[in-house]
Amino acid sequence: MKTLNETGVGKAIDRVEGHLKVTGMAKYASEFPVENKVYGQGINSTIAKGEILSIDTSEAENLPGVLKVITYKNAEKLKTFEEEMPPLWPDVIAPVLQTNKVHYYGEYVGFVVAETFEIAQHAARLVKFEYKKDHDAAINFEENKSKAYKPTESSDYSRGNIEQGMSEADVKVEETYTTAMEHHHPMELHAVIASWDNGKLTAYSSQQMIDANVTALANTFQIPKENVRIIAAFVGGGFGSKLNIERHVVMASMASQMVRKPVQATVTRQQMFTNTGFRQFNEQKMRIGAKKDGKLTALSHDTISHTSTTQQYQESCGFVSKMLYNVANNSIKHRLIPMNLQTPFAMRAPGEATGSFALECAMDEMAYKLNMDPIEFRVKNDTQTDLSENKPFSSRLFVECLRIGAEKFGWENRKKEPRTNTNGNWLIGHGVSAASRKAPYQKTSAKVIIELAGGEPTATIKMDATDIGTGSYTIIAQTVSEYLGIRVEQVNVEIGDSEFPKTPGSGGSWGAASYCNGARAACENVISELKNKLNLAETEEVSIGDLLKRNDLTKYEATGTAEPSEEFKKHSVFSFGANFTEVWVDKDTGMWKIKRMVNVGSAGKILNPKTAYGQIIGGLTMGAGMVIAEQSKIEPNFGNFITRTLADYHVPVNLDMANIDVIFLPEDDKIANKMGVKGIGELGITSVAASIANAIFNATGKRMRSLPITPEKLIEAPIEKQIET
Ligand code: MOS
Repeated sequence: MKTLNETGVGKAIDRVEGHLKVTGMAKYASEFPVENKVYGQGINSTIAKGEILSIDTSEAENLPGVLKVITYKNAEKLKTFEEEMPPLWPDVIAPVLQTNKVHYYGEYVGFVVAETFEIAQHAARLVKFEYKKDHDAAINFEENKSKAYKPTESSDYSRGNIEQGMSEADVKVEETYTTAMEHHHPMELHAVIASWDNGKLTAYSSQQMIDANVTALANTFQIPKENVRIIAAFVGGGFGSKLNIERHVVMASMASQMVRKPVQATVTRQQMFTNTGFRQFNEQKMRIGAKKDGKLTALSHDTISHTSTTQQYQESCGFVSKMLYNVANNSIKHRLIPMNLQTPFAMRAPGEATGSFALECAMDEMAYKLNMDPIEFRVKNDTQTDLSENKPFSSRLFVECLRIGAEKFGWENRKKEPRTNTNGNWLIGHGVSAASRKAPYQKTSAKVIIELAGGEPTATIKMDATDIGTGSYTIIAQTVSEYLGIRVEQVNVEIGDSEFPKTPGSGGSWGAASYCNGARAACENVISELKNKLNLAETEEVSIGDLLKRNDLTKYEATGTAEPSEEFKKHSVFSFGANFTEVWVDKDTGMWKIKRMVNVGSAGKILNPKTAYGQIIGGLTMGAGMVIAEQSKIEPNFGNFITRTLADYHVPVNLDMANIDVIFLPEDDKIANKMGVKGIGELGITSVAASIANAIFNATGKRMRSLPITPEKLIEAPIEKQIET
């Protein structure tokens, strides 16, 4: 596309909302100055399974400043699930405090409303619950494996014959990989201020997908969607945890109706371990067969993970294994164990981040057994067709990502044999992995208002999009700048309100493509409508300001909607990437560190290299976190999380990340959408863990198949020898 000015699409401009954030002017959910607001605090169960026998609220209720104690006994009746194990999704109801049953440790069993946050917190501890505890709570994954079930028909997939493919193989890899439970932990705690006015609910809530979330809230309270408004002007990170309506939003809304005041509920960091979703533990069994020349004959990927006992969520770890490589015989299975833990939910690249750890480690193991370079092995099994869908990829720069990354990284200097590249006590290793992430795009509308006040025209764009720290404000402003031929300073972006035109929200890496094409459509419409009024040809070049003037207008607005084309539906639309990592491992202590990383991505048109770079760095950091230390642990008797704070749950810091090079390949994919934009929020985390684990093998000769790879695990692991072929 033609770039009209210095702030349009493709320019690395600063964030347009940056100054609001660093000056504290950007309003997050709990910061809206809602008058007369009071404070709610959720109470968490202290058993994993059983029922509430009695509740004593008297001490809490007698505390000055306490307005209400809500439990299942006096809670408003909400819509509850009609089917067994319904799926968890952003538009699904979130009933709470409806029964005396307890399904996991930490489940909300009550909600205290008080005049101050401190009184609410204190009063929550004064409510006394007596439980009848069931002693068969499913807390241990291994012990409950026999309960694993197939969640949906699409949980399994196959083509060809996997056993036949394995029997045709000269070399086989059959290994099991595990990834740890993790929590999203966005910086901004989940928070809401809910208030009712004339039967209408307004929720200032930290959410990723506003329209779907309005549906969820409306259905939970059984009121029309028009009676629910959600405002999420700024969101301090989500990573999937804010895709859906969590129960604190429902409790605050319910409480607001009962006390007739706006109620604020801020989930504590401790509650973010038990009440706002998490990534479940995955056990993935890989079976790969290949001919001596490296041609894959079979690839199977079976995943067992867990869900809650009330709702279903499947992280589709195997999906990456059905489309990434050219293999005729392929089989994918997913099984879930119902456990007495909260329902897990999407965390950044759900499926790909975890699934590609298993797939790309197994591919590395196979390459080593074949005595083949791991890049050449992958290139040999490249495909331009998505065999799982029988569709061509709209574009696939898979080989290019690997080749360009190899050059940038200096792959040719890598030592093939483990433990041969050393520096004093350090064992040095180099690892590679390939990445792919679906690049979805969904129907999106936007409204643009052009005003001519004095000299320059200004444009205001409105849509119910969210900016979860990704840069939505900036890329939407750049799109308007580009398509209206004005500078970003002339653009005013208003998002995060359900009263604005509908978008799919921020999730699944569809935000950028959807938002910007919606904004583009609105801008194109405003120009063509103004030209039509003057009987001007579409091709005539007139500035937006002149179009208004010649129409004798000072203000004009138009809406536009973008949606996937027929061509889009005939193709598989994905982003691709490659990760390269150098690690240094202390051979005596097992301590290891990332020395440098190179990430190459082909993700269509890069709207803003600066914000895109931030997305990839964030993804790489979270991917490294999976390997370094991120792990949520369960206390084996009670089923509570014993990682309770960011002091026990370690996320990587700057010192962990060292030097990172990020390269975006130029890619022009107009099948993806008119602007050629593909998402990158999730591509960056995908397969990072595998590139690190593969580098650790290259350094040490130890295959680490269980995340995180802590020094004590690494020091105890055996050195594997190459299998003769
Ligand atoms: Mo994402 S896990 O869809 O925020």
